Formats: sequence, structure tokens, C-alpha cells
Amino acid sequence: MPAVFDRHYVKRLDGPNVKKGKNKKDLADQVIADIRQFKNANNCDRMVVVWAGSTEIFTTEAPCHKSLAAFEKGLVDSDPAIASSMIYAYAAIRMGIPYANAAPNLSADVPALMELAAHTKSPMAGKDMKTGQTLIKTIIAPALAGLDAADQAGVYVEPSPLDPDGDSKQKRIYFESSLRIQPHGGETVREVKSINGACEILIDWPHGKRGPFYQSAREVVQAALEGKATPAQAREAFAALAAHAGILIGDSGS
Ligand SMILES: NC(=O)c1ccc[n+]([C@@H]2O[C@H](COP(=O)([O-])OP(=O)(O)OC[C@H]3O[C@@H](n4cnc5c(N)ncnc54)[C@H](O)[C@@H]3O)[C@@H](O)[C@H]2O)c1
Repeated sequence: MPAVFDRHYVKRLDGPNVKKGKNKKDLADQVIADIRQFKNANNCDRMVVVWAGSTEIFTTEAPCHKSLAAFEKGLVDSDPAIASSMIYAYAAIRMGIPYANAAPNLSADVPALMELAAHTKSPMAGKDMKTGQTLIKTIIAPALAGLDAADQAGVYVEPSPLDPDGDSKQKRIYFESSLRIQPHGGETVREVKSINGACEILIDWPHGKRGPFYQSAREVVQAALEGKATPAQAREAFAALAAHAGILIGDSGS
């Protein structure tokens, strides 16, 4: 059956088998009809919905996530803060069906959908599954691939104002788009624009919080500084570490 899908939330995928509707409320109603039809056709007594779609872009709680009324208005207005996975979550929870989120994105993890779940007595679980896949896919595999990528790195090196001829080893290697982090306990938001910037933050990373995610990110960032991994791989590894640490507040390139 056609999916609720929008490339805005998953940039690297596309496909023709998608639902059309006048707004996101219409799409949610179509998912509700699909679930009902599946239940009847398969004579199910009970159902569980598990979101296992591709990871969506990093988002944070928006005004339309704050209450059920705001969310339902957001559906009618096709609010961009309502991602595809949230439409599936809304449909399942509206029907009182248990909903589990196997992905690391926001999905049902917002007050509006928790409020709905309390009304419909729909159990909720998630997020992400702890199989180790995320660590492999976002950090270790790119690091291994990066060892072979030096010649194809496509690195954009901007001359430093201190070194206009670009001779010194202090060249900054910029990401295609920056990341924003907000370290715990601080109000300052830092914009991480380059491999060098990420490296500086990793050097300052609190020693007590340096787990396997940190070690892997540091290796990829170091490899990128040496031209053995691409800026995109360094950016992805750093973003994964920052998201894991709960300090990533903006990823303009997802
Ligand atoms: N595989 C694991 O062990 C594991 C572990 C932890 C978390 N996860 C998370 O679970 C999710 C799925 O992982 P996977 O390994 O199965 O990925 P996958 O890429 O193999 O499968 C994702 C599928 O979702 C489909 N899809 C994307 N958007 C959709 C939409 N809006 N509606 C319907 N289908 C859609 C894609 O076409 C694809 O077939 C990811 O978010 C991943 O990070 C997986």
C-alpha cells in the first residue's frame, strides 16, 4: 500500500508509491483506513505498530507538538514540523494501538502524542533499537571506508586569513553545512563549521564522558584532518556523537 512519505524528512530516498492528500490530516485518515482494512482482511484481534522506516532528519519539539489540539491543527495546516513517522504514530495511537518507535528520530516522543495515548490508552515504546546498528552504520563503517578515501575526498579547503597562501598546516577544512551544539549546563550555542572546529571540541570533551562513541568520532575526525576520511564522514561521526550526548540542537544538512 502507498506510504506517507516526504523527501523533506529523508533526503536520500524517493519513490512513486506514496499517498496523496489535501493535507496531513487527510494522510493520517488514509493510514487509519489502511490499518482498519488490514485488520479486517487478516481477522486480527490485536495489533501493534512498529515504526521501522528510514531515520528522519534531526528535529526538536515544535509548538505544534506541545498539545493534542495544536498537533491536530498542525495536521490540517500540514505543519512542516509533523514528519511522516508522526503521521503513522498519530494514526496508530488514535486507534488505541500500541506504538513502538524503532528509529532514533522524534516520532511519537512529543507531548501531543503522549496526551493522545493517555486518552486512547495506547502503550508507547521507543526510541531506537539497541542492536548496535547505529554505531556501525554512522561511525565504524564510514571510518573503515574513509581509510580508502584519501584520493577521492573532494575536500574544500578555504585559505586561512592568517595563512593566505595556504602553506601552513592550520588550514581549516569546512563542512558543507554547519552543526549547532549546546553543551550541558551552558547557554552558549556553538556552531561547528569545520573538521578543525569539531576536533577542538573533541579535545575539550569531558574525560568522564569519553565512551566508545567518542573514541570512534575522534578517530574519524582525526582521519579527516589527515585526508584519510571525507569532511562529510567527519561531520556525520561528530553529529552522531553530539546527538548521542544530547547536545546536538541543529543539523542544517540532514
Ligand atoms: N537494523 C537495525 O538493527 C536497527 C537498529 C537500531 C535502529 N534502527 C533504525 O530502524 C530504522 C530502520 O532500519 P533498517 O535497518 O530496517 O533500515 P532500511 O533502510 O533497511 O529500511 C528502511 C525502510 O523504510 C522505508 N521507508 C522510509 N520512509 C518511509 C515512509 N515514510 N513510509 C514507509 N516506508 C518508509 C524505506 O524505503 C526502507 O525500505 C532506521 O531508523 C534505523 O536507524 C535499526
